Amino acid sequence: MSTIRQPRLEAHDLGVHFDGLRALDGIDLWIDEGEIVGLIGPNGAGKTTLLNVLSGFQAPTDGRVVLVGTDVTGWPAERLARRGLVRTFQSVRLFPTLTVLENVQLGGVGVGMSRRQAQRQAIELLGAIGLGHRAGAVASALPHGEERLAGVARALAVKPRFLLLDEPGAGLNEDESDELLAALREIHRTFGVSILVVEHDMRLIMRLCGRLQVLDHGRTLAIGTPDEVRRNPVVLDAYLGAGHGHVAA
Ligand SMILES: Nc1ncnc2c1ncn2[C@@H]1O[C@H](COP(=O)(O)OP(=O)(O)OP(=O)(O)O)[C@@H](O)[C@H]1O
Ligand SMILES: [Mg+2]
Repeated sequence: MSTIRQPRLEAHDLGVHFDGLRALDGIDLWIDEGEIVGLIGPNGAGKTTLLNVLSGFQAPTDGRVVLVGTDVTGWPAERLARRGLVRTFQSVRLFPTLTVLENVQLGGVGVGMSRRQAQRQAIELLGAIGLGHRAGAVASALPHGEERLAGVARALAVKPRFLLLDEPGAGLNEDESDELLAALREIHRTFGVSILVVEHDMRLIMRLCGRLQVLDHGRTLAIGTPDEVRRNPVVLDAYLGAGHGHVAA
């Protein structure tokens, strides 16, 4: 186990096997403090599986996960959340009958804040993310884009150092995607949180991320800046081969 307590999240040689299928096969990944890293790749590439392993929702078959110098492989999600690592899901899971404020407040209560503290924090978070005017709305009444943002605000209520987002832009139109981009940049600036984001919205991810890692069939195809990845013929082939069009932004 590493004894250097670097403020980074690392995965070493991760493998996840489902019966005969290698959903992940020899994946290395790192996120340094303050980075925004994008994880892209065709459907079925293993992106969600990787997020599941990093966030304690799936035990790896091989390899290990190291969080700020501590080997956390196989730790359950709640324990990782207490160490500052939180994720959102591909489909949002807000409590539909509660208000937006109550949903975000629950995130804070879940990690031991008083209701009052959690409420104060929820108001701040909703303001930072541009949803202050929706605090009193019932969650089920939100348009899709705002619902996804509220899901991000709830994850932030846990005060993470590392935030893992699974397709926060799914189903958003261009305007909503632009609002999400602005909100994520604001979150990154205000809270200093490091972000790993899985996304098919190339327009969003190419603008948001400093570095991209491309997966295909459970393996890493490429790592680089958005410009490097966009021009990488191996990456273009993977997308074209899977019928996903081109990696344009
Ligand atoms: N619990 C499971 N049992 C069996 N196979 C699984 C399981 N979860 C995922 N898989 C398979 O593992 C592979 C990777 O799936 P994963 O959901 O990680 O892909 P993804 O990159 O997130 O795709 P998408 O872009 O469609 O969300 C797929 O072939 C999927 O069918
Ligand atoms: Mg997925």
